[in-house]
Amino acid sequence: MTTVGIIGAGTMGAEIAHVASAAGMDVLVADADLARAEQGVDRARALAARRVERGRLDADAAEAATARVRAVAGIDDLADVDVVIEAVPEDLALKTAVHRRIDEVVRPDALVATNTSGLSVTALGDATASPSRLVGLHFFNPASTMRLVEVIAGAATDEQAVARAIALAEDLGKTPVRVRECPGFVVNRVLVRAMAEAYRAAAGAPVDRRAADAMVVDGGPAPMGPFALGDLVGLDVLDSIRGDLEAAYGDRFDDAGTLAPLVAAGRLGRKSGGGLVPDGDAQPTGTEPVVAAIYYAGALDEARRLADEGVASPADIDLAMCLGAGWAEGPLASG
Ligand SMILES: NC(=O)c1ccc[n+]([C@@H]2O[C@H](COP(=O)([O-])OP(=O)(O)OC[C@H]3O[C@@H](n4cnc5c(N)ncnc54)[C@H](O)[C@@H]3O)[C@@H](O)[C@H]2O)c1
Repeated sequence: MTTVGIIGAGTMGAEIAHVASAAGMDVLVADADLARAEQGVDRARALAARRVERGRLDADAAEAATARVRAVAGIDDLADVDVVIEAVPEDLALKTAVHRRIDEVVRPDALVATNTSGLSVTALGDATASPSRLVGLHFFNPASTMRLVEVIAGAATDEQAVARAIALAEDLGKTPVRVRECPGFVVNRVLVRAMAEAYRAAAGAPVDRRAADAMVVDGGPAPMGPFALGDLVGLDVLDSIRGDLEAAYGDRFDDAGTLAPLVAAGRLGRKSGGGLVPDGDAQPTGTEPVVAAIYYAGALDEARRLADEGVASPADIDLAMCLGAGWAEGPLASG
């Protein structure tokens, strides 16, 4: 029986706790204190109950899963786990401190994974005493339903750790895709590039964003257009990822100043204040098909770059876009 320790019982930690317990693993959940860990466990239990209501999980299986998840007071209680999955906020200094503590307390043969969406696994590993056992295990939100897990090896990660991470993802019922480390990994790099292209195109011409989104959905494999997707992700989170990618790759991730003023005004998308997509009916200007075409051209170009750089195989890039972004077919399939 595998025992998984989860550190950080927020959005992702609670979802992953549910996934691991539903897969038959024992799960210990740690957060900054016991009360927060207990809140995370409650969320994992609520998820199990919701999946029963929706007919996706058998009631007995949910009860058994719920019984396998337990809150603990902190990292020090994870000394004997087989696997640690760290899901604390996306802050290198915070994650570094957490991983140093993991090194000190968790048995040396345990696998250690970080659910970072964009930080360098190599940099995180270098800050610790045992970088060879650290892997990136990038789950997508909501982890209980999204099948993709990007598996990222840092420069010092050993092959055995990568193999264990891939086997773990499979045991969790997920589809792992192996990704060579680069900023944004596969899915965020392709999506954010396409979104930045669309935002730049829309900044230079009168465009109805709702109509442009509809053109993207009608004219290609994406389930949602770039403006609605931005509002769903949260414009603050998106602009932070986009800014990191612009710093790493340059102007092709420039959004022509679309997001920053909205974030500054507290318009963060669906979670608060409205965002990119206005209320009311669409009033197309005729330029929307151009924006949609630019969106897909951006995705295709970034996917080709990923393949050329050897970040992942073309088949895996397409698989990742289907499972991680909900595309009906990957950008390289028809490109
Ligand atoms: N939310 C998403 O859509 C998403 C998707 C994929 C990956 N991620 C990544 O997953 C990670 C977690 O994101 P989230 O959205 O779940 O964040 P969150 O803010 O919802 O949860 C983070 C949790 O970590 C806890 N925490 C803070 N400091 C801690 C410490 N020192 N020790 C233990 N716990 C601590 C917080 O109390 C909180 O419960 C980030 O790296 C993020 O980039 C997020």
